Amino acid sequence: MSPHTPADSLAPRPGSASRVSLSTLVTPDQTNPYGTLHGGVLLRLADECGAIAAIRHVGHGQITTAAIDSFTFIGPVFVGERVELVAEVTYAGRTSMEAFIEIHAEPLHKAEPRKVGVGYAVYVALCELDRKPVRVPPLLCETESDRRRDEEARARQAIRLARRAEALAHREELH
Ligand SMILES: CC(C)(COP(=O)(O)OP(=O)(O)OC[C@H]1O[C@@H](n2cnc3c(N)ncnc32)[C@H](O)[C@@H]1OP(=O)(O)O)[C@@H](O)C(=O)NCCC(=O)NCCS
Repeated sequence: MSPHTPADSLAPRPGSASRVSLSTLVTPDQTNPYGTLHGGVLLRLADECGAIAAIRHVGHGQITTAAIDSFTFIGPVFVGERVELVAEVTYAGRTSMEAFIEIHAEPLHKAEPRKVGVGYAVYVALCELDRKPVRVPPLLCETESDRRRDEEARARQAIRLARRAEALAHREELH
């Protein structure tokens, strides 16, 4: 725990307490020549929305993005549409958190949202003084569905850490 972490801030919290949404209108400067939204713009919004969920889970301080993975774009988003992203923390480790992010789009003139993307991002809480990882509150696991969610998240996290080890090994090979 950082010297600046309030003692009661490590009490377990439900994932639902971190749930947050973000919405925006797709403008021409965000699209490709075919008039559909750039994937990179959507990823940035997804990262921002996931980060807010992670900050809500921690309740104070700083976080950084450690990984964005498993993002699947299901369908295009067109200029002039409204995009809404919803994120929620689905796993908390010692200093890291996973957020699930879901993205919907809809035309402005009717409330008919369609799912256009889903994915996960991992955030790490940092000490504001030295930017070293600090502990985060555990995620409350009360129901059978919470436990299943936790098990699935741990499996995803294990895959990410294997990928990270591989990336670090490749970095050493290049030097
Ligand atoms: C993420 C970062 C803070 C991790 O720092 P570190 O000194 O390597 O710390 P650790 O190895 O102790 O990792 C801290 C936690 O993050 C997790 N983690 C680190 N890299 C991860 C990855 N690629 N995927 C998933 N989890 C990861 C670790 O498992 C650990 O989790 P835990 O404490 O819950 O068990 C560091 O790699 C970093 O600063 N990266 C750049 C972040 C950044 O700038 N992002 C913006 C985009 S460039």
